[in-house]
Amino acid sequence: MSTIRIAALLLLVILLSACRGQPFEEPPRFVQPNMHYQEKFTYQSENRFFEDGRADRLPVEGTVPRGRLAVDVALHEGLDENGNFVTDLPLDVSRSFLMRGGERYYIYCTPCHGNAGDGMGIISQRGLIAPSFHTDTMREMPYGQIYSAIYNGINTMGSYRHQLDVEDRWAVVAYVRALQLSQYASEEEVRALGIDPEELRAQMAE
Ligand code: HEC
Repeated sequence: MSTIRIAALLLLVILLSACRGQPFEEPPRFVQPNMHYQEKFTYQSENRFFEDGRADRLPVEGTVPRGRLAVDVALHEGLDENGNFVTDLPLDVSRSFLMRGGERYYIYCTPCHGNAGDGMGIISQRGLIAPSFHTDTMREMPYGQIYSAIYNGINTMGSYRHQLDVEDRWAVVAYVRALQLSQYASEEEVRALGIDPEELRAQMAE
């Protein structure tokens, strides 16, 4: 046999010997294990060092989070000092704030409450119901209650607190109010904005 043939055969044996056709059963070998293996307590595990035997410890009493400190209950929960829903927006409304609220509204609320807030979102075509915002109850609902629906959820509606941070929640609340006004303004109110109701009607009819 020529050297080339032997070399080729050897190469074939080496290559094929790597094909085991089944997964490795042994743990992988680490040349440099870094800190893959170490003595530690994972969550929910036991630690006899403590009297209660739990490895998880509660924060020391009086601990405050760094950064956003949620002490402003009106802002963070929409409640006043007596635990009632606030009746005012705790943040200033600007055009960009409303626009932001509208954007978030279209992302998170339209599937159920609909673009116009009339409860005719896509789910209404699938046999599910979400309420319209254009009823007296909804129009009279304090700001804090709308906030609470977003923050805590209500009955079958889940909470959106993780999708929306505190400013965004209020921006959506402001937008819901704007939607309500857009469907329920008197002629006087429309005139006060310098808009002719007759012209508006004509435009709508087009
Ligand atoms: C998955 C569907 C769904 C989505 C998405 C949804 N809602 Fe709702 N919402 C509901 C349903 C259903 C109810 C009625 C719950 C009940 O009272 O039984 C409701 C009720 C409400 C109410 C009335 C609360 C009250 O106290 O009666 C408000 C306000 C509201 N939603 C706002 C929002 C806002 C703002 C968003 C977007 C952040 C949103 N919803 C997203 C389904 C939804």
